[in-house]
Amino acid sequence: MERLTLGERIRSRDLRIQSGGPWAYTLSAIAHYGVRAVAGSRVQRDSEHILNEYDAGGRDEYWDDQLSLEQLIYGNDCTPKWLLQNDELVVGVDRVSREYLTQRLLSRVSACLPDGKGTIAEFGCGTGRNLFFLRQHFPEARLVGFELSPSTAARAQADANAFDLDIEVHQADITAPLVWDGRASVSFTVHALEQLPRVFPVAVDQILGVTDRAAIFFEPVRELFPVSPRGLAARLRLRNADHLHGLLDYLRQNGAGRVVVAERLPTVGAPLNQTSEIVVEMG
Ligand SMILES: C[S@@+](CC[C@H](N)C(=O)[O-])C[C@H]1O[C@@H](n2cnc3c(N)ncnc32)[C@H](O)[C@@H]1O
Repeated sequence: MERLTLGERIRSRDLRIQSGGPWAYTLSAIAHYGVRAVAGSRVQRDSEHILNEYDAGGRDEYWDDQLSLEQLIYGNDCTPKWLLQNDELVVGVDRVSREYLTQRLLSRVSACLPDGKGTIAEFGCGTGRNLFFLRQHFPEARLVGFELSPSTAARAQADANAFDLDIEVHQADITAPLVWDGRASVSFTVHALEQLPRVFPVAVDQILGVTDRAAIFFEPVRELFPVSPRGLAARLRLRNADHLHGLLDYLRQNGAGRVVVAERLPTVGAPLNQTSEIVVEMG
C-alpha cells in the first residue's frame, strides 16, 4: 500500500492514508470526504454519468479474453486493499468479498427456489458475473439479466455464450418501461440501484411488478451504515458520490411486498460503501 508524504497528499487532493493501519485509514477518510463534502465537486449520477462509467470500454478489467470463468466471477485483481471481513477492517483482495457475496446470494436464492426451477432475473447485471455464478448452481432455472450499457450487455452475452452458459442478457434501462414478457420467481440487484439515487423507485416498482416470490437487493443502504467513525466516513463519502438513500423506507412503505430481511453484510470489498441485504417477500 502506498506511502505518500502529507505534501504529496495535499497536492494530489487525496488525504486518504491506506498504509497506516485501520485507524489511519478511517480518520484520513473522514478528513478526505469531509473536505470534499464541504468544498469538493459533487458527482451528478444520471444516465450519462453511468454510461460514461460503464459503457465504451470502461470495464477493461473484465474485458480480457484470457480470463477464466472463475476469474470473471470472482475477479483477478490481487492488489491488496482495505476490506471489511467479519466486521473487521483488514487488508485483503477482492476475492474475499466476492466469495462472501456470491455464497449469500446462493443461499438466499436457494431458499426461494427449493426445487431449483423457475426464473431468476438480475437487474443491472453488468458483466453478468452473478448470473454466471448462479448458472453453476441452478442448471434448471431460466437466468435473465438486464443491463443499461449496450457494450456491457453485449459483452456479458458473448462471455456467457463463450462459456456455454445458458443466460439471456437484455440491454434495457430499468427506469424505463420494461419490454419483457416474462416473470421472475426471484429477482435481485447487486449495487445497481446505488446508481439511481433519484429514480430508484421506478426501477423498484418494475422489479417488484414482475416478481412472484422474492426480490433481493444487495445495495449500500445509508440508513443501515454503522454509527461509528467508519460509518461517518461512509456517509461523508456518499454525500459527494451522489449515491442511493431512501431505499429501505421506500420498500417498507411499498404495498407490493414485505421486507423480511434488512441487514448489513459483515464482509464487503468497499468498507465505505458497505453493502446491505434487503429481502422483500411477495404476495
Ligand atoms: C456497480 S455495477 C454492478 C453490476 C453487477 N450487478 C455486478 O454485481 O457485477 C452497476 C451496473 O448497473 C447498471 N445500471 C445502472 N443504471 C441502470 C439502469 N437504469 N438500467 C439498467 N442497468 C443499469 C450499470 O450499467 C452497471 O453495469
